[in-house]
Amino acid sequence: MEKLIIEGGRPLEGRIRVSGSKNAALPILLASLAVDGPVTYTNVPNLRDINTTLRLLDILGCGTTFENGTVTVTPGTLVPEAPYELVKTMRASVLCLGPLLARLCEARVSLPGGCAIGSRPVDLHLKALEKMGATFDLEQGYIHGTCDGRLRGAHIQFDFPTVGGTENLLMAAALAEGETVLVNAAREPEVVDLANFLCACGAKITGQGTSIITIEGVERLSGCEYRIMPDRIEAGTYLCAAAITDGELLLEDCPMFELEAVIAKLREMGVYIEEKGDVVVARRNGGGVHGVDVVTLPFPGFPTDMQAQIMALMCLSQGSGMIKETIFENRFMHVQELSRMGAHITLDGRTAMVRGVDSLIGAPVMASDLRASASLVLAGLAAKGSTEVQRIYHLDRGYENIEHKLEGVGARITRARD
Ligand code: UD1
Repeated sequence: MEKLIIEGGRPLEGRIRVSGSKNAALPILLASLAVDGPVTYTNVPNLRDINTTLRLLDILGCGTTFENGTVTVTPGTLVPEAPYELVKTMRASVLCLGPLLARLCEARVSLPGGCAIGSRPVDLHLKALEKMGATFDLEQGYIHGTCDGRLRGAHIQFDFPTVGGTENLLMAAALAEGETVLVNAAREPEVVDLANFLCACGAKITGQGTSIITIEGVERLSGCEYRIMPDRIEAGTYLCAAAITDGELLLEDCPMFELEAVIAKLREMGVYIEEKGDVVVARRNGGGVHGVDVVTLPFPGFPTDMQAQIMALMCLSQGSGMIKETIFENRFMHVQELSRMGAHITLDGRTAMVRGVDSLIGAPVMASDLRASASLVLAGLAAKGSTEVQRIYHLDRGYENIEHKLEGVGARITRARD
């Protein structure tokens, strides 16, 4: 198994280009299933989850190519079944339910199963699709959905602003008969990017980015060319890298509006972040960083996908801070590993109390999920001595060329095999 070995304690300095967003690319690539013509996507990050998505599209009947950040998808004869072997490695596969139902009136998608950061059910997706006329059975671990003719527009009130649920419904409703209104919809920038992509293909969607989205169904969607938005979570991780190593990073293609909640917290901690020309500059504000309180919330609140990284930074703060995780249960698996590096963190249910220490000490640590892995890399970059981050296949799901990007700004980081 591969691991990263980091010799910490070196300030990072230089430019990093932010890659295309994984969480925007996954649903937008799967939305090709709803489109009746060839699509070209640019700014697609080269990540394990993207390659899994392309394999899934191939299995479902599309033709795909991927070269230098450009993906092409050509439509073919669609097949309604997303097999367990793929879905178990990538939960986002469940996003093919909406477009397959809309195109084929049938979808068989393996249930994603448990996941390291909580049980993560898809009940809200199914309940909403049922309102549009779909019916579901569970057959041998597969969700089997069917509908009698075209899906019908509906008024859907989500119990929670689920990101995946909103995305599945956008794809289904784009091709449904009549108007669909999604109330308490997710407002995440990746949802907006998907809606914008569907509109570029001819869908009629308004209200994306607000909690009420209206979709007037159309008969068909046609192909287009589309650039995937930059990855706000990758960018946020590198903002933390500048601060935790007491260096200075210049980020190209850094989405400021989409990162507002993260930038506000980092500034409160004493990190200087400003746009200068075509880059965003991040460094400490002269002194150390201070502990702050953070609560994860749906967008525009502080993103759960940045919780682990800001915790790593807070481990080295002056004073204490509190982090409350409200989106996922069991998303504190990095706490034990950070503690092995000398962090002082106390857990009480969904709340972590972080008491800043003067330094972290390198240690062998184990990555448990994508963002937890990023927090361990950040801690390793700042720690004294050598840190080995094991099980980095999690990291490869979401960070393009991470060790090359970090090496390019002065980190001592190498990939090795056990
Ligand atoms: C997406 C992101 C993930 C991010 C999360 C929250 C992708 C590929 N993943 O995940 O990185 O952390 O948004 O910003 O874009 N829930 C239910 N029933 C459902 C659906 C969700 O109970 O049917 C619960 C989940 O268990 C979780 C919460 O709602 O506790 C948020 O889930 P959701 O917003 O759907 O996140 P994902 O789309 O899975």
